[in-house]
Amino acid sequence: MSEINEYSGKATMEKITSLAKRRGFVFQSSEIYGGQSGAWDYGPLGIELKNRIAGVWWKEMTRLHDNIVGLDASILMHPRTWEASGHVENFTDPLVDCKKCKSRFRADMIPQENLAAKKCPDCGGELTDTRKFNLMFKSHIGPAEDTASIIYLRPETAQGIYVNYKNIIQSSRMKIPFGIAQIGKAFRNEIVTKNFIFRTCEFEQMEMQYFVKPGTDVEWFNEWRSQRWMYYEKLGVKMDCLRWHQHGSDELAHYAKDAYDIQYLFPMGWRELEGVHNRTDYDLSRHSEFSGKDMQYIDQDNNNERYLPYIIETSAGLTRNVLMILCDAYDEEQVAPEKKPGSPEETSRNENSADDIRTVLRFHPDLAPITAAVLPLMKKDGLAELAHDIRTELQDDYATDYDQSGAIGRRYRRQDEAGTPFCITVDYQSKEDKTVTLRFRDSMEQVRVPRAELAARLRHEIKGYKRVK
Ligand code: GAP
Repeated sequence: MSEINEYSGKATMEKITSLAKRRGFVFQSSEIYGGQSGAWDYGPLGIELKNRIAGVWWKEMTRLHDNIVGLDASILMHPRTWEASGHVENFTDPLVDCKKCKSRFRADMIPQENLAAKKCPDCGGELTDTRKFNLMFKSHIGPAEDTASIIYLRPETAQGIYVNYKNIIQSSRMKIPFGIAQIGKAFRNEIVTKNFIFRTCEFEQMEMQYFVKPGTDVEWFNEWRSQRWMYYEKLGVKMDCLRWHQHGSDELAHYAKDAYDIQYLFPMGWRELEGVHNRTDYDLSRHSEFSGKDMQYIDQDNNNERYLPYIIETSAGLTRNVLMILCDAYDEEQVAPEKKPGSPEETSRNENSADDIRTVLRFHPDLAPITAAVLPLMKKDGLAELAHDIRTELQDDYATDYDQSGAIGRRYRRQDEAGTPFCITVDYQSKEDKTVTLRFRDSMEQVRVPRAELAARLRHEIKGYKRVK
């Protein structure tokens, strides 16, 4: 596949941020106090979208594999964990400050000529020497604020898996190769937090650690690269907006023998979405050393052979995936007026949004916060009651919405902006012949469906969904 280099989609970060706020996907944290940088709140549509992405990932990484199980480890861990993992020593970014305007930069993110000349890229003032800045949030546990009470907020979910790997072998009788998956919060004191929810101080990760016999690690590394690529294909993401980036020796994390990022072409350019890492036996050998516990695997099927497993890690940002899915789904298009359900009439031009440009989020139905919206054409004449009945019937299986206010064209546009793949409109004909109008978000096509067949038809449409634009 030939690689594209320029973003050519309709989204901009401004449009995504504004839509996210307007429609209740994501709000700035503590907005009434001026906002907290690096932190965001997920609103009613946002939490649904985030949960759906997490659910699809969880199914893909646990339920569809006989040998991968789940875990939910705590955020607070024994501080020795982070000495063993190397984070206390190595989890740093290079930091410079401007002595004049007091701006703070990551030294690897400003032009190298500025760094060499110690010249601030914003005001031209003098920059400080580069110093290492540890990204872990540090706090104290208990009433005394001394070195014995230091505790960290975990900067990755992975370590909770490593320290539990023996518990899981014993309790779940796992045999190598096997995996442990986890979704949870992670915290990093990022120097630069821009681009909305792309890089934040509080975020969520979806990580899977796969324990393999040394010597088979390269094969499993390649296998997981291929599985993770197929995952995005299945999600219906625009595949020409994804590419691999192999870490050079200067980029490799302290634990990695080899690492590839899956990058996505965001409106601000190609950026990391997820990483696949060959972490070798680094983590387990360090935890053996620091805890004094034997972390070796005993292969009972092979004369009790003992070894420290190698670990292949797939590590995706959940909140970063939310941003990717929003950007990927975002579209604007010029449209003709739509037909009014139950009549040959079109909705008038001014019932639709300005100049008949519609904003639409083309989410895969498995990810859409609302799967189906039920809209009575009128509130009166029993149409609202009928629509409520239909909603109640669908509610058990699908995330639904009900909207009876405003012209039907406007209501469709509101659902398009929320990414709702199906609208079900109840009109006068529905009362007579027990049919409803099913309207498709992507094509805006409308078909009449017997009410009795509606649930089965939705199931069929969701299963066979193919993104066309
Ligand atoms: N356990 C390995 C690990 O944490 P990483 O490359 O540092 O590796 C994995 O992070 C993923 O977590 C990234 O690909 C990204 O999607 C997400 N991520 C990392 N830092 C983030 C941040 N500050 N804000 C949002 N997502 C972040």
